[in-house]
Amino acid sequence: MADYTLHDDAGKEIARLPLLHGTLGSAAADVRRLLDDSGITTYDPGFSSTASCSSAITFIDGDQGVLLYRGYPIDDLVEKSDFVEVAYLLLFGELPSDAELRNFSRDVTLHTMVHEQLSTFYRGFRRDAHPMAVLLGVVGALSAFYPDSIDVFDPLQRLISIERLIAKMPTITAMAYKYTIGQPFVYPRNDLDYCSNFLHMMFSVPAEPYTVNPLLAKAMNALLIVMADHEQNASTSTVRTVGSSRANPFACIAAGISSLWGPIHGGANEAVVAMLVGIGTKANLADAIRRAKDKDDPFRLMGFGHRVYKSYDPRAKVMRRIYEELLAELDLADDPLFELAKELERRALEDDYFVSRKLYPNVDFYSGLVMKALGIPLNMFTAIFALSRTVGWLSHWKEMIEDQDQRIARPRQIYVGATQRPYVGIAQRRLDGAAPKMPTGRPMPSEPSIVGG
Ligand code: ACO
Repeated sequence: MADYTLHDDAGKEIARLPLLHGTLGSAAADVRRLLDDSGITTYDPGFSSTASCSSAITFIDGDQGVLLYRGYPIDDLVEKSDFVEVAYLLLFGELPSDAELRNFSRDVTLHTMVHEQLSTFYRGFRRDAHPMAVLLGVVGALSAFYPDSIDVFDPLQRLISIERLIAKMPTITAMAYKYTIGQPFVYPRNDLDYCSNFLHMMFSVPAEPYTVNPLLAKAMNALLIVMADHEQNASTSTVRTVGSSRANPFACIAAGISSLWGPIHGGANEAVVAMLVGIGTKANLADAIRRAKDKDDPFRLMGFGHRVYKSYDPRAKVMRRIYEELLAELDLADDPLFELAKELERRALEDDYFVSRKLYPNVDFYSGLVMKALGIPLNMFTAIFALSRTVGWLSHWKEMIEDQDQRIARPRQIYVGATQRPYVGIAQRRLDGAAPKMPTGRPMPSEPSIVGG
């Protein structure tokens, strides 16, 4: 394909944009010199048509419903690999040899405990704090505990930080859960594999013996693999943006957690189950679909739609299969919520609104149900997503630091505000007819709160 040329209305050439080609996917017009050469910027809110970097980690074909980690299809990895091996693959680009995997697992396992002092952070939170609020605070605080590994230009320090974060995320996440339910923190067990150890820290108590059910560990493994990376999604782009200023990796991951928390990103898994519970029965499905289509109603079908997938999200397929396996293997009676989810999916996929906009179930539509079957409470869903996605965030952070083309992220804007004007003294300001500048009708607290809110 030839370079791309921009012309003005009179047909005069404004700029010639070289086309860049990856190994798969769309070509990109290189606009790096556009502003300097032509005085023109590009406008792309939400980055629908903008490649912010080149990356060799994950490829998505949104039309075909394909997701590859370093070239390997996601369903192959779920079937044949485990989360720690997938972490190695995402971070270093190749599947490890036997010795490489043993060394990496050992190095990660060495870091599973957290500094005892860190547990005092938890006690500063209210018991009913959302686990994501706790997680982002505690992960950000890690930078205060490991000042020895925050030189982002030292490859060894980068590796140690990566291992620390992958090792400690399950511990920190499980501690967030234990804190909210008032149970003692459970120390990690390094004789267990990654997923079994996480389940152990989540569900065991000092008073009782606890044996990890291998079926649950297998489902957790699948869950963590499918959520581990998804190229330049909102939270990964956030991690890259924060990291581009050379912030330390703990601060970068805390920023990723913040972005993931939003209900139209990682928070959607929690929102899906809340939505299904809210819908309640099949009799209410028609009304839910009607509301989702109504532009004057903020209600959307959570777990539906995706910026990139214009066909069935391959992760949703895996999650649905894993959920069906769990129901069969654990001999659970038919879950009414699953029946409702399937019926909602069936009806939406027959509705022209969803068909014409290519809105299909995304990963969150079924991942929440898998988590529910594993006994994970609703408010922990996004925290577990964060645990898994930490591996993807770190892979992108590492790739970004090692990329010679990388510069501080600093987008341009189209300024639409007032042009330059002189200051007006308060007595001379005209308020008549002007739109209110601050929201009015702010609710006032009726009674002073004793607990402080
Ligand atoms: N329910 C109803 N309508 C929807 C939905 C939905 N879930 N998703 C998109 N639409 C409609 C939009 O209203 C819009 O309609 P219009 O063309 O008539 O204006 C059209 O489909 C395109 O949607 P956009 O919002 O422009 O798509 P965008 O790519 O910006 O957003 C997103 C993608 C945020 C995922 C959106 O589909 C959504 O909000 N889905 C529900 C939340 C969700 O499940 N998020 C998880 C995504 S996966 C993840 O982050 C792990």
